[in-house]
Amino acid sequence: MGTDSCEGEHSSPPDGVDAHEWSRRLKAEWQQRACSSRSNFYIASHVGWQDETARQRQAELDCALVLTGLPDAFLSTADVFEVGCGYGRLVPCLAPRVQSYTGMDIAPTFVAQARAARFPTARFFETDGSSVPEAAKDRTYDLIFSAAVLIHCPLAVIHALVPECLKLLSPTGRMRIQLLADPHDLSGIITAESLEDMAERVTRETAATNNDQSATVEAELATDTHCYMGHAFTYAEAAGFAKACAGSVFTHFLLRMDPLFIYVEFTVDGHGQQR
Ligand SMILES: C[S@@+](CC[C@H](N)C(=O)[O-])C[C@H]1O[C@@H](n2cnc3c(N)ncnc32)[C@H](O)[C@@H]1O
Repeated sequence: MGTDSCEGEHSSPPDGVDAHEWSRRLKAEWQQRACSSRSNFYIASHVGWQDETARQRQAELDCALVLTGLPDAFLSTADVFEVGCGYGRLVPCLAPRVQSYTGMDIAPTFVAQARAARFPTARFFETDGSSVPEAAKDRTYDLIFSAAVLIHCPLAVIHALVPECLKLLSPTGRMRIQLLADPHDLSGIITAESLEDMAERVTRETAATNNDQSATVEAELATDTHCYMGHAFTYAEAAGFAKACAGSVFTHFLLRMDPLFIYVEFTVDGHGQQR
């Protein structure tokens, strides 16, 4: 495990390295980001990321997305596990609605910040990046999720981490992950044409209303010198990966609403409809 210090290395990872080596690189990168004055930007690079009110609003929206379709009756007794929790951005919205919340993150400084916030019913662990810490394995989880995390991870890390997490899913639980999609491959988007229209309209309207703030985010991205390691999946590749992870134990469901991301939900076979 790393230390909670603000030092880190800054180099491009070589090809052909294993999950362990990639994780070491990821940890160094994310620890640097956690220590940077722009850590809020790295956690959620949305329009208005410098503003506390905008951050809270975005966290509420992102929390709602994670919980889509899950009724309060399910959530109120649910033990929840977040993979890549950062400093606990989603915890204020999430923890009060569930029985228990466990978060793990690769960056020790984010874990320390999350713990320092002293959220009731929440606990946080540092991970090596490709496995679940033993302390977090003391229970199974009814909801395991990962938001804006695997999109930053190399394939070897995703291959190591997802099956590890699936082992901790309760018999009636569900796991939701977000993968980075290859934007050149638009398959899997059921209504690609209307979505493209919609994306164009939303881009136009957003640009008109948030021109200055959008420019700020873009400028931040342009000056970001961090090493990007995220693997972009074609839809067929994501489907194959999800199927291999699911094996004969889990049912899996892919959802692609836009060119950027592919969401995958796993449930234990036969429990997918029990919401
Ligand atoms: C963009 S932030 C999102 C944080 C949080 N999910 C949220 O939505 O507020 C990505 C987070 O994932 C963490 N992370 C990246 N790779 C990870 C890995 N392999 N295992 C655990 N955490 C990881 C980073 O340290 C960072 O906190």
